[in-house]
Amino acid sequence: MGAPLRFLTGITTTGTPHLGNYVGAIRPAVQASRRPGTENFYFLADYHALIKCDEPARIQRSTLEIAACWLAAGLDPEQVFFYRQSDIPEVTELTWLLTCVTGKGVLNRAHAYKAQVDKNTAAGVDVDAEVTMGLFMYPVLMAADILMFKAHRIPVGRDQVQHIEMARDMAQSFNHLYGEHLVLPEAQIDESVALLPGLDGRKMSKSYDNVIGLFSPRDQVRKQIFSIVTDSRAPGEPKDTEGSALFQIYQAFASAEETQKLREAYAAGIAWSDAKQLLFERIDREIAPMREKHEHLVNHPQELERILQAGAAKARGRATPFIRELRQAVGLRNLADVPGGTKKDKARASLPAFKQYREADGLFYFKFVDAQGRLLLQSAGFASPKEAGQFIAGLKASQALPQDGKAAPAAGVSSEQVHAALKELADSGN
Ligand code: TRP
Repeated sequence: MGAPLRFLTGITTTGTPHLGNYVGAIRPAVQASRRPGTENFYFLADYHALIKCDEPARIQRSTLEIAACWLAAGLDPEQVFFYRQSDIPEVTELTWLLTCVTGKGVLNRAHAYKAQVDKNTAAGVDVDAEVTMGLFMYPVLMAADILMFKAHRIPVGRDQVQHIEMARDMAQSFNHLYGEHLVLPEAQIDESVALLPGLDGRKMSKSYDNVIGLFSPRDQVRKQIFSIVTDSRAPGEPKDTEGSALFQIYQAFASAEETQKLREAYAAGIAWSDAKQLLFERIDREIAPMREKHEHLVNHPQELERILQAGAAKARGRATPFIRELRQAVGLRNLADVPGGTKKDKARASLPAFKQYREADGLFYFKFVDAQGRLLLQSAGFASPKEAGQFIAGLKASQALPQDGKAAPAAGVSSEQVHAALKELADSGN
């Protein structure tokens, strides 16, 4: 068994979730959280919400609403890490450490910032009008969210891929300067998740005003479903499933068998009102039990608060020791600490070392670094930790690099330097 693969998802706490969010994000994430051999982090990105919203009551209300939605949808806070970003002070601390290794030019290229600059340019106003440093720094805060918990994979939409790449770059810069501390994350785009059409057939989205609320009152959901746009075919006339928003929404909730039944009903000329009633009942069957739980949580905020506090304590169990390690790495240290500590630690700390880890591709890798943490050798992926370990044992024994492409010296490192470091390690008896 290898180390668990860690997945991390940030949930922006603005707005009220709709069925499109449920089918496209919440439901698949809740299912994914149950995979064995994984650790799953879900957090309410309330610091990020501050960038877009300056109404305190709305910030509080959205956080409550959205936390209740995720728990009602089946997320088990015992099984995952479920916390509020602003409860983890280590995240803001890491944001600063990353800020110091991030080029301003990199952030100049971030899509959200650039879009505002382009808009300002087109309007002939100052390029930075309406640009807060919050907007500009958005990618750094997001990188801190990810790197804080050593997440391997970040399930996101295409619009977020640039942010994950920036997080990777920041991790690389940090590691280059201070040694291998941060894990490089990878975006994971799930193409199989269906985009749910809205009432008018376009993608369901708040900005199109075509949504069906996830936990709106039942009669309101029914009314919304009855307002889905259909064609003018009369009862008895066969209907097309192709391009039918009603059919697609049904499919997102129904089993293959149920979907086939509706397909046959379409061919047999089901009345639109009957099809809408079927859709309403099918959705309600899935949502009704969750609606009760949602209502309970929204009406008992102290219960939700307790869950989030427990989640924060669990998450800080990881964050607190890690930020201590990172502070140490950059030199924010107790002045009385002699570098290296005990004589034995000191001897070990001044030696080159192998570092094994697992990447987001599921393979096992190692790095060989010198005493200062600089990369000497980078391996390719191995199928198991055992194979990686055997390869390392071979390197230690031969003190030379086999020409099989399984490991290569880092840029600017010669094979003599690798050999010297291997020899130094062997001579020390490690
Ligand atoms: N920016 C993400 C969004 O708008 C939310 C988010 C914040 C996030 N921090 C994150 C997502 C870290 C993944 C990982 O959807």
